[in-house]
Amino acid sequence: MIEQLRKDFPLLHTHVDEQPICYFDSAATTQKPQSVINAVNKFYQQDNANVHRGAHTLSAAATSHYESIRGKLARFLNVTPEEIVWTKGATDSLNLIAYGLSEKLTQDDVILVSPLEHHANIVPWQQAALKTGAKLEVLPVNEQGILELENAKRLIHKVKPKILSICHASNALGNIHDVAALIEVAKQHDTITVIDGAQSLLHLRPDLSAMGCDFFVFSAHKTLGPTGLGGLFGRYELLNNMPVYQTGGEMIERVSFGGTTFRDAPGKFEPGTPNISGVIGFGAALDYLNAIDANALADYEQNLYQYLVSALQKIDGIKIWGDTIHNIGIVSFTYKDEHHFDIATFLNTYGVAVRSGHHCTQPLMAHLSLQGTVRVSLAFYNSYQDVDTLIDALKNTIDMLEE
Ligand code: ALA
Repeated sequence: MIEQLRKDFPLLHTHVDEQPICYFDSAATTQKPQSVINAVNKFYQQDNANVHRGAHTLSAAATSHYESIRGKLARFLNVTPEEIVWTKGATDSLNLIAYGLSEKLTQDDVILVSPLEHHANIVPWQQAALKTGAKLEVLPVNEQGILELENAKRLIHKVKPKILSICHASNALGNIHDVAALIEVAKQHDTITVIDGAQSLLHLRPDLSAMGCDFFVFSAHKTLGPTGLGGLFGRYELLNNMPVYQTGGEMIERVSFGGTTFRDAPGKFEPGTPNISGVIGFGAALDYLNAIDANALADYEQNLYQYLVSALQKIDGIKIWGDTIHNIGIVSFTYKDEHHFDIATFLNTYGVAVRSGHHCTQPLMAHLSLQGTVRVSLAFYNSYQDVDTLIDALKNTIDMLEE
């Protein structure tokens, strides 16, 4: 199955400095299947028009195509289309939510996040706290960077946060969080729950109704779709009652110099011309995923991940950080005191693409007393051959570093 699927991704068959590419940076952005590229091309070549505006045929067709994908995504997430807002990405979504929820915060309130959060799920809350006097507190994790679930539940009971915002899966370590368990506890205190699904949408395909969160954010480009697009789910009552974030055309009901009234959600959060081609490309990405057996893909990814972990564990001096049991397929490792950037640079000479650094999680790195790690992030289109190439390249890299 995987060999067939790999054929759908043109970039996987290219070379970097004459070496076949081994792409292990899917947590930064996934590669795109040909069907997504074709959908974007077709839109610009045959269907290009603005949405929600003209009476002409092209505009009406673009509008109905664009809106149908909101519905497709809603079905994918098991929510309703009115609860989906398109944004520029997960970062934009988190900023919108933090801004919107700020007006509910006072100096007596606590916003709770985990130390594993991407900066995008820390800094907007920090700003909200500065503006309102609310306190930003942090859930407990162990020395490996693994969330301590029972202690986390206890802390939620103790501080009764107004907002709990946590990643479903860590972008730096890959750890999967039992967000449903945390949400269940949070609900007992009327806590508003925000889940950063940037890394989980592709690997875990969450059912948001079952999860029970109030908000969920994602980026299309980490889920086979185009860059510059993302979105959020918001439970309708909460979403519709949030203040507008950015203003302009299309999000209004009526404008006069006496004042302006706004549309209901999701329209009131979507000013200006949206990323129409991005949404259409993302629609093709969802079609692509819907056509593949999700369980078979998840099994393949997990087996490949365990193959990678055990190969790395056999190399003296490699230390893997985070949870290797509940993981979306990310290995974050260090080798002795060698600099992560040197390792990634050497690996690149073998055509192996990994990310190195702090992965936009400086508080996590500080907790682990690290400057950074080498991050290998898998997707279902990685092969066992890719992993063998990575391991050989890493052994050669280590030999060079040890010389
Ligand atoms: N957030 C992306 C990553 O983890 C860019 O690499």
